[in-house]
Amino acid sequence: MAELDVGFQLVARHLDATDRPAEFDLLGYSWHLLPEVFAPIHTASTELFSDWLPYPAGGSFLEIGCGAGVTAVLAALRGCARVAAVDISGQAAANTALNATRHGVGDRVSVHQGDLFGPLDRDDRFDVIFWNSNVIPTPEHFDYSHDIEHAIFDREYRAHRRYLAEGMQRLTPGGVLLLGFNSLGDRVWLDRIAAELGLEFTEYRGETRHSGHVAVTFQLLQAVKR
Ligand SMILES: C[S@@+](CC[C@H](N)C(=O)[O-])C[C@H]1O[C@@H](n2cnc3c(N)ncnc32)[C@H](O)[C@@H]1O
Repeated sequence: MAELDVGFQLVARHLDATDRPAEFDLLGYSWHLLPEVFAPIHTASTELFSDWLPYPAGGSFLEIGCGAGVTAVLAALRGCARVAAVDISGQAAANTALNATRHGVGDRVSVHQGDLFGPLDRDDRFDVIFWNSNVIPTPEHFDYSHDIEHAIFDREYRAHRRYLAEGMQRLTPGGVLLLGFNSLGDRVWLDRIAAELGLEFTEYRGETRHSGHVAVTFQLLQAVKR
């Protein structure tokens, strides 16, 4: 399947040390980049979503899958009073903590290593929840061989299903559950999961970018009750 091939090419780029700076510039700031963490320099997703997100001034923001921490740190810099950031990769969690300290928001950004909402207190709720997700679905028997593959591939969209189901339970009244998706993902499969959960998506914002000969449409989707 073509999307799986594009995914493996992206994995290879991430593992190529010659194509990997220890720092990068994005959205007016410089950022640390640790090994095996999703690198916002290879695709436009981090930049676009971080720029588009409706950060709740004075409110609470949860980023699932924080990677190098650009979005979580920007949320704090743009006025969120409380930011939580979670990543399944310990290296990504460390990277986010490093960048929160670098930009003076370590007191407002709590960083956790773990699976989706697992590391959070049971009663914790957020005004905005967001995940720039691992959009390429894989078959049931896909074996992850590097941490970075979790940034790109989701086995049978199991994590997406849990993100939507549990994310809706984690919102404050009037809160917003957002998913950063793109056209390398399987929108039909995603919509089917949403429908099974009594949800559907509205498009908050979208844009098409070209990476070499591949055109990718990035979409910030809001999950709402049907
Ligand atoms: C596409 S990357 C986005 C990284 C970062 N937010 C950015 O925009 O640069 C997806 C991130 O989700 C994380 N991830 C994947 N599955 C996860 C899970 N079950 N729980 C928490 N994080 C997960 C990956 O490790 C990766 O850092």
